Amino acid sequence: MSTNGWREQKHQEVFESVLRGLERRRALDPGFELSDARNTLKHLYIQEGNDQEGRGEPAAIALASTIAAYEHFIAEWKDAGQGDSPREPSPAAKTADRGVAMSLEIRRVANLHELKAFVRFPYRIYSGDPCWVPTLDLDDLNTLRRDKNPAFETCEAEYWMAYRDGSPVGRIAGMINHPANAKWGTKLARFGWIDFVEDFAVAEALLKTVEDWARSKGLEGLHGPLGFTDFDREGMLVEGFDEVATLATNYNRPYYPQYLERLGYAKDIDWIEYQIHTPSVIPEKVLRVQELIAKRSGIHLHEWKNKKELIGKWAKDLFAILEETYAHLYGTAPLSQKQVQAYIKTYLGFVDPRFTKIVVDKEGKLIGFGITMPSLSRALQRARGRLLPLGWLHLMLALRRPTVMDMYLIAVKPEYQSRGVVAFLMTSLNQSAIDAGVKIAESNPELETNVEVQGLWKGYEKRQHKRRRIYTKKLLP
Ligand SMILES: CC(C)(COP(=O)(O)OP(=O)(O)OC[C@H]1O[C@@H](n2cnc3c(N)ncnc32)[C@H](O)[C@@H]1OP(=O)(O)O)[C@@H](O)C(=O)NCCC(=O)NCCS
Repeated sequence: MSTNGWREQKHQEVFESVLRGLERRRALDPGFELSDARNTLKHLYIQEGNDQEGRGEPAAIALASTIAAYEHFIAEWKDAGQGDSPREPSPAAKTADRGVAMSLEIRRVANLHELKAFVRFPYRIYSGDPCWVPTLDLDDLNTLRRDKNPAFETCEAEYWMAYRDGSPVGRIAGMINHPANAKWGTKLARFGWIDFVEDFAVAEALLKTVEDWARSKGLEGLHGPLGFTDFDREGMLVEGFDEVATLATNYNRPYYPQYLERLGYAKDIDWIEYQIHTPSVIPEKVLRVQELIAKRSGIHLHEWKNKKELIGKWAKDLFAILEETYAHLYGTAPLSQKQVQAYIKTYLGFVDPRFTKIVVDKEGKLIGFGITMPSLSRALQRARGRLLPLGWLHLMLALRRPTVMDMYLIAVKPEYQSRGVVAFLMTSLNQSAIDAGVKIAESNPELETNVEVQGLWKGYEKRQHKRRRIYTKKLLP
């Protein structure tokens, strides 16, 4: 353990044990009241203020951690309906934060070595967590590196990490997507890749860093978590903390949104997610309607054969439809040709004819598509961010023998919407899932305002199990 690591460990141990003790007491002792906890905390403040001399560092850390645990416990109790005014960090809370954050430091990520540490930081919080799904390090690095991601032709970004006593305790990215600002008429910076240990001071310092950076660039507000584009992970989980994330989604602990709200961030918009049970048969009626549409209009499903055909013949039109149909959705911005090429290379190389469907009109022109993929959640957890030595094998097995499907993209050309084109996509995807033995599908994030896409699940057995949020804050000059 590093010379400083023991401090962090000590803090964590004491904090958790005091908190557990308080929670147990609250559960078992009907006479224990909020005022009792407050009184003890008052004494702890006095102790902390008066007894500096002669106290060893471990004792100081233990006291600060005890105070932090009491603060946390009281705030949680208050939040659970004791009718107190909204939580404000007391001067003592700040002291407690300082007690464990004496050398809290924010450092800009300045080289590839530090960027790798930035990418690996979430393992410090989530390693072994069954709900968290890591990214592949290489994917993250390719997105974050200026020399790799064509988004940098029109975007700016900086990354920072927080360290306490030399140990990493948080990370954040600040980005400016100029085409998005131009399109939506905004002057906003984005934050993303945000992770921090359960310590308000760390979250505060990280967000303040991005706020100051955004202000220095003449911007008026911040929103996030977002990526450079819609293809990066976005949104902060606010519901569904016991659900397994997907390849496309972030996982975070409940204290993240609590801290953001305490820092003045408010909801901008939410995405919701569904888990859908694969129906074991496709209703006859739906198939009959489909036949009728095909007979009358010539619209039909095109069975593409291999990746060469998909990438060579269909990819360009597919992205054109995507850009056209997704343009009204939150945060989207036009993609450059280089970005489109990069996404084609990254994503379309993995798709499988069984699980990606395309629909064409009578002239054979692409009018709609649906891209789904076997869930890689478990495989990514096993790979722990790396393809070698065995990560690739976990991913290959998951792709070959799926049990859960992830829905990624679905779109129908506007002039063909509401005409049943989507039925071809849904029924054929459904049939492939049945054939492959898939029982469950994950919708992945759908904007709460996107009623069209939610309409697709009308007749299915489903549950809405997650909700993730974009937060926003105006920056005062
Ligand atoms: C989402 C989208 C693909 C839906 O297509 P659409 O043509 O608008 O879908 P509609 O709801 O009008 O459905 C048309 C008909 O298809 C059929 N249909 C819809 N869902 C179906 C399903 N799951 N299975 C079988 N048939 C279905 C129905 O006959 C429906 O008619 P009805 O509403 O009278 O029952 C389309 O609106 C779109 O491209 N939106 C923009 C892109 C987008 O938002 N993508 C999702 C991002 S998360």
